[in-house]
Amino acid sequence: MSRDAERRAALGAPSPHFTAQVERIRRAAALGPILDLACGHGRHAVPAADLGLPVVALDRDREALATLTQVVPTRGGRLLPVAADLEGRGAPPLRPGGFGAVLVFRYLHRPLFPAIEALLAPGGLLLYETFTLDQRALGWGPGRDAFLLGPGELARAFPGLEILDYTEGPTAEARPAHTARLLARRPASR
Ligand SMILES: C[S@@+](CC[C@H](N)C(=O)[O-])C[C@H]1O[C@@H](n2cnc3c(N)ncnc32)[C@H](O)[C@@H]1O
Repeated sequence: MSRDAERRAALGAPSPHFTAQVERIRRAAALGPILDLACGHGRHAVPAADLGLPVVALDRDREALATLTQVVPTRGGRLLPVAADLEGRGAPPLRPGGFGAVLVFRYLHRPLFPAIEALLAPGGLLLYETFTLDQRALGWGPGRDAFLLGPGELARAFPGLEILDYTEGPTAEARPAHTARLLARRPASR
């Protein structure tokens, strides 16, 4: 197996919340690059780049980013790794208003919510999915309140965005998780 194929096999399946929005993500790229925040090994950054899109993939884990950069996206897509700590001082090293879509999966740091909203270009999309408090009952994944959303919390987290879809509950995955799933858009003009 080639190194590229090995890396892809290790990524794991993207979330159904991502795959359901592939066409919207493709269209949103006309507004700016795609940003995958806390991308890990690229479970969503890689399939987004495979759409032929430029994808900024940010994580503090340099080893994960090194793995990700060994994948060669299809259709001329590009993966642009950024190593940064999202919980350090100051805003993330990213251009506000510059991204066509921001993806956040299985990562929660509540103080970042305003900065995430500000990263979107007018008309840009936010796809956010992470664990809710119900995840604890499953006995795997994060256990601390800091990493688990309360009921309806994600729907209230981005007051400047228009909510296009919001759901909570078990996921339709091989290993179901309890998550909240938000699809929201920054208004084209304020
Ligand atoms: C559970 S993984 C999710 C990875 C990917 N989004 C996915 O859905 O497969 C959480 C990721 O958040 C990253 N992370 C945690 N704290 C971070 C921080 N302060 N700054 C940047 N990345 C962080 C970790 O390195 C890890 O890759």
